[in-house]
Amino acid sequence: MKVVSVVGARPNFMKIAPFARAVARYNAKAPGQGGQPIDHCLVHTGQHYDVQMSEGFFKALNIPSPTVNLEIGSGTHAEQVGRTMIAFEKVVKDFQPDWVVVVGDVNATCACSITAKKEVVKLAHIEAGLRSFDLAMPEEINRMVTDRLSDMLFTTDELADANLRSEGVPDEKIRRVGNVMIDTLFANREKAARLTLGEIAERHALKGHAGAFDANNLAPGTFAVLTMHRPSNVDDRGVMGRMAGFLVDEVSRELAIAWPIHPRTMARLKEFGLWEKVAACPGVALLEPVGYHEMLKLNMDCRLMLTDSGGLQEECCVLGTPCLTLRSNTERPVTLTEHGGVSVLVGNDIEKIRAGYAEMKEKPRRPHAPPLWDGRTAERIVAALVG
Ligand code: UD1
Repeated sequence: MKVVSVVGARPNFMKIAPFARAVARYNAKAPGQGGQPIDHCLVHTGQHYDVQMSEGFFKALNIPSPTVNLEIGSGTHAEQVGRTMIAFEKVVKDFQPDWVVVVGDVNATCACSITAKKEVVKLAHIEAGLRSFDLAMPEEINRMVTDRLSDMLFTTDELADANLRSEGVPDEKIRRVGNVMIDTLFANREKAARLTLGEIAERHALKGHAGAFDANNLAPGTFAVLTMHRPSNVDDRGVMGRMAGFLVDEVSRELAIAWPIHPRTMARLKEFGLWEKVAACPGVALLEPVGYHEMLKLNMDCRLMLTDSGGLQEECCVLGTPCLTLRSNTERPVTLTEHGGVSVLVGNDIEKIRAGYAEMKEKPRRPHAPPLWDGRTAERIVAALVG
């Protein structure tokens, strides 16, 4: 059987790592058990291309080098999707796969799904059925298009199954397998635990920036981690201004803040004239985008997470880290406190964020792994594909 799998941007890498490993493990056993090995072609669309945003993850997570890199780079959504479709069509025509496997919800996911189906190739989506019901999010469009086209939909939880059913997806296409991100978390948490916070702060301090932060001030239980990259948060001058004020004038006086900063966010802070204020704050550790193990260590040791990332909400859920989700909706409701998780939605309204912060900063850790978030999801996916 020939399978093409696709990655494009940072959140895809931790999802494809366990899949690639499960394929390799299956191939090591298959011939002895009368099965046919899987001919696996891993395609990187190149949407994320910086070493810290891409290459570093391949190394750290032992992902085999991509068979093909489409090198599509940055651009508008139409440019990214269009360039990916043109380049991926050639890969599909050359390789003639039986299945195209896509993960998550980035532009690569959507572009390669459309191309696969136009080439009449079967499509499998890992992390299907997640819905924020917010069409202003490009990821929601990517999720809807991909799920509508998919022949096999691998879901993380029963809420995702329910979304698919309500959209008319027949039961036989839905396979609840758990969460591949959590496979990666379980496989890497011991390695992450061996890192030290001071080293992370020092080694990943933003280059070319004489920060005011002392790396020794990052001690377990005494700091918050912040990540922000969503256009709805970072592209708005007012939101960014209020956020910067809250972080510098309020949070950083109580808790140090470790802030691995996304390229988009840094560019906006500079554009909005907020950079100096944030950079001069002795309570804020401005970091380059950090690697997988570094982020996991920060998450395991912090008091609180503030984030607009979807994946981090899930990791916080399993690690029990109190999580303020800087969004007004989430496609991952299973991580919310009302479903037994640790995350609360506070949007980008500063009053809500302040109230949520006051409530969450004293909360103890409360780990919660939904059913099948057990580290064996990728194995179930490979079994379903060959079955
Ligand atoms: C993308 C995903 C989002 C995911 C996020 C994680 C889509 C629609 N969005 O958003 O779901 O949560 O990745 O990071 O696919 N840039 C660099 N170096 C890189 C990559 C990007 O400097 O390696 C800069 C570029 O200037 C680019 C900007 O970051 O314009 C944004 O990158 P882009 O890939 O367009 O989307 P993200 O905001 O990263």
